[in-house]
Amino acid sequence: MNPIHIVILAAGKGTRMRSAIPKVLHRVSGVALIDRVLQTASRLQPETTTVVVGHEADTVRRHLGEKPQLYTVIQEPQLGTGHALLQAESVLRDKTGTVVLLSGDVPLLTPATLEALVETHGKAGAAATVVTATVPRPFGYGRVVRSSGQIARIVEERDASPADREIREINSGIYAFDLAPLFDALRGIGAANAQGEYYLPDLVSIYRRHGRAVTTWSVANADEIRGINSRSELAEVSAMVRQRKNEELMAAGVTLVDPATTYIDSDVEVGADTVIHPCVHLEGSTRVGTACEIHSGTRIVNSTVGDRVTLLNHSVVVDSTIGTGCSVGPFAHLRPGSVLGGDARVGNFVELKNTSLGAGAKANHLAYLGDATIGEQSNIGAGTITCNYDGMRKHPTVIGKGAFVGSNSTLVAPVTIGDHAYVAAGSAVTEDVPPDALGIGRARQENKPGWVSRRNVRSEK
Ligand code: UD1
Ligand code: CA
Repeated sequence: MNPIHIVILAAGKGTRMRSAIPKVLHRVSGVALIDRVLQTASRLQPETTTVVVGHEADTVRRHLGEKPQLYTVIQEPQLGTGHALLQAESVLRDKTGTVVLLSGDVPLLTPATLEALVETHGKAGAAATVVTATVPRPFGYGRVVRSSGQIARIVEERDASPADREIREINSGIYAFDLAPLFDALRGIGAANAQGEYYLPDLVSIYRRHGRAVTTWSVANADEIRGINSRSELAEVSAMVRQRKNEELMAAGVTLVDPATTYIDSDVEVGADTVIHPCVHLEGSTRVGTACEIHSGTRIVNSTVGDRVTLLNHSVVVDSTIGTGCSVGPFAHLRPGSVLGGDARVGNFVELKNTSLGAGAKANHLAYLGDATIGEQSNIGAGTITCNYDGMRKHPTVIGKGAFVGSNSTLVAPVTIGDHAYVAAGSAVTEDVPPDALGIGRARQENKPGWVSRRNVRSEK
């Protein structure tokens, strides 16, 4: 097998994004552009992958992290796409095989297109193979100029003659190159053009002059090679990715009441017979089971939701786990580290943070439960607050199973409430309550008979 080497160009500033964040780190449906390109590229099982970084290089490198056979090279200054590829020579100098060149800002490319590119390139024994597409509005792209049907050269928009501008076949910026002649040929590229840059597409005319074969592979669906250069293109591409994801889910048995207002990130999984109402956001690595119902306005991030769970309107769930058969919301907030056992219930205006509720436990109204472990079948009354923070440190609250915490209780952590214990409503609990005991932590009520009439008599005087 002829080894594949991937090179991804990602050094440009992305001026039109008007962003402090490097363009390739902007996200489409929860996944950074560069990660989408890397995911697709990995399907070719490359021997090496090199990302050319430049603008905000450290930020991009930090994002990529360390992976086997993943290299980054710096292009500084950024003198054009031809100059960018030249920077990969340090990685590829002693290698053989085929270089597949991708753009960090072209996220919709499919593995099937890359496989077709590599196959066409191999069969033609070409020095270069260019992925092209025919589009109704070619403005801004490099145009493919053919002579006798063969690709002769690529001309950039800003260097194109009026006749060139009429051409609707465009350069996708994606290529396969034979590695052996590549770097010598790249050194032959000049910068005598409208932008004063070293244009990688100039390799086409250089190879043709040397009598080397150059071929093309045309994609049927030009959407695949759409580059992202601006926020509005980012939004357009995001809408396409979202629609594709929604269609996949519906085909797999998920009901989307209104796909146009359903926002599900690419890596999210949802089980069959789950019903998702409008304006729901499922983000990151979220997994939702089967036969759930998720009502409008709910947002779930990096969380796992079991089967037959009901999430009522406007709940927010982040980095948490919800067991089978639970009911959550409306207006519940599960902050990171919340874990609900099977059939637990969390009602309106309840906030959980780093807290587990055992199977069948309930916190139905108006509570803050932080750093707490709550046993199965316990009932947490309306208005219960765990005082987990003393101004310096966080402390745990442990509540056993089958316990009953009366309404408006204040549990001052660290504190433990034993199995089957009761806490009287309105208590400030500062000491542990043993199992089976009733803890009462409030002033005893005193009634003053006749107090109202006596006061009224006084005030009439
Ligand atoms: C490029 C092609 C054009 C093609 C289009 C497809 C050139 C000269 N033109 O134009 O024919 O139709 O892509 O989308 O190649 N980059 C670097 N270093 C640089 C310059 C660019 O790494 O010095 C990177 C950018 O970060 C980007 C990619 O190369 O990821 C493409 O650069 P961009 O400036 O967007 O090229 P286009 O003008 O879109
Ligand atoms: Ca571009």
